[in-house]
Amino acid sequence: MKVLVIGGGGREHALVWRLRKSPSVTKLYAIPGNPGIASVAECHVDTDYVQFAKATGVDLTVVGPEAQLVAGVVDKFRARGLPIVGPTAANAALEGSKVHSKRFMERIGVPTARFAAVSNQTEARDALRHFRLPVVLKTDGLAAGKGVIIAQTQDEAESALSSLAFPIVIEEFLEGEEVSFIVLCDGKRGVPLEPSQDHKRIFDGDQGPNTGGMGAYSDSGILSPAMRDQIMDTIIEPVVRATQFTGFLYAGLMMTPMGPSVLEFNVRMGDPETQPLMMRLESDWGEALMAAARGNLTPDALRWSPEPATCVVMAAKGYPGTPKTGQNISGLDAVSDAVVFQAGTKRVGEDIVTAGGRVLGVTARGVDLKDSIDRAYAAVAQIHFEGMQYRGDIGAKGLKRYNSEVRARSSVG
Ligand code: AMP
Ligand code: GLY
Repeated sequence: MKVLVIGGGGREHALVWRLRKSPSVTKLYAIPGNPGIASVAECHVDTDYVQFAKATGVDLTVVGPEAQLVAGVVDKFRARGLPIVGPTAANAALEGSKVHSKRFMERIGVPTARFAAVSNQTEARDALRHFRLPVVLKTDGLAAGKGVIIAQTQDEAESALSSLAFPIVIEEFLEGEEVSFIVLCDGKRGVPLEPSQDHKRIFDGDQGPNTGGMGAYSDSGILSPAMRDQIMDTIIEPVVRATQFTGFLYAGLMMTPMGPSVLEFNVRMGDPETQPLMMRLESDWGEALMAAARGNLTPDALRWSPEPATCVVMAAKGYPGTPKTGQNISGLDAVSDAVVFQAGTKRVGEDIVTAGGRVLGVTARGVDLKDSIDRAYAAVAQIHFEGMQYRGDIGAKGLKRYNSEVRARSSVG
């Protein structure tokens, strides 16, 4: 089958890279793609997606970014009978509006932090009195991971009120470990991908401002089978039932002492979570996605390697502020033991140069988590561009969890 992928970031490079290995896929297109994607798919400039799919006889379209989903690309394809993986615009509001999403969760009883939705400063000041510090303030609309403020003091909360556009959500601060739980849905059923963890802050040790994600790893040990069942029963299945959800439902979870609680829903694959996930997937990705688009997913549609994978994001100088672009990237050809997914890159003649904030996602699988981390960083060490920044501790939390489990087991035995 011929598959079109919409988008041009690291997530889409990983999706296309994996589709290329699927026996069911004969031809790959991407709009707009990027220089990395161009090595595995035919890239076309931004154009009318429906017209392009019709003109080229595309059998299946997969949407990467949220903006097109919120704008209704899935509804347009469905109206013309064209198979596509993604949610309707109505369901994309689960990500597109935090107010809608929180009210929806409250209505159907999905565990999430206690909240107040407020539409002006007066309401916000009133509501703040009912929350302990630290308190979380979130812009309603899409904000590329940058619309959340965690205020430690009353003063910080007050000044946040003047920097955020209303309406906003004020919510209780939750403590615990964060997990990205992504599920492929066909309108009736959800089939979970393996769990993964993102690293949202720019600096090591989760310091500094939030970013779109500085690295991710996927390891089965992140969640026990019992915990996965609990998440499916209390969070995913109620949402799929209530919304007939199609596409990727991404639950950003906080694993609190009271159980998993939803921080946010996204309606697409995560970036950079997709990069390690695609390296672990073993079944035919094209077939699974087509089954999702046709409404006939089976529980065994996705099979995974037990080997963990780790992605280290290399970002441009200035990110998450304005990134410095046009820097020459060297060493890409020297990497052999990892896959370099390209995000913010551009081809200039023979050179690949930086063209965005997150530039590369250097991703490797390993026999265990430590091995995958070591391989990813060995590849990172081969690559250079001026002002590059990356975290040195991607996967460290996973290693810590693993080591403490080993200690617990040996002290019991
Ligand atoms: P969101 O866009 O809602 O996922 O928020 C971005 C990041 O802010 C999350 O990944 C968390 O690290 C943090 N965050 C959001 N909501 C909360 C909360 N209620 N308690 C603690 N941290 C939060
Ligand atoms: N990595 C977080 C996200 O894709 O929203």
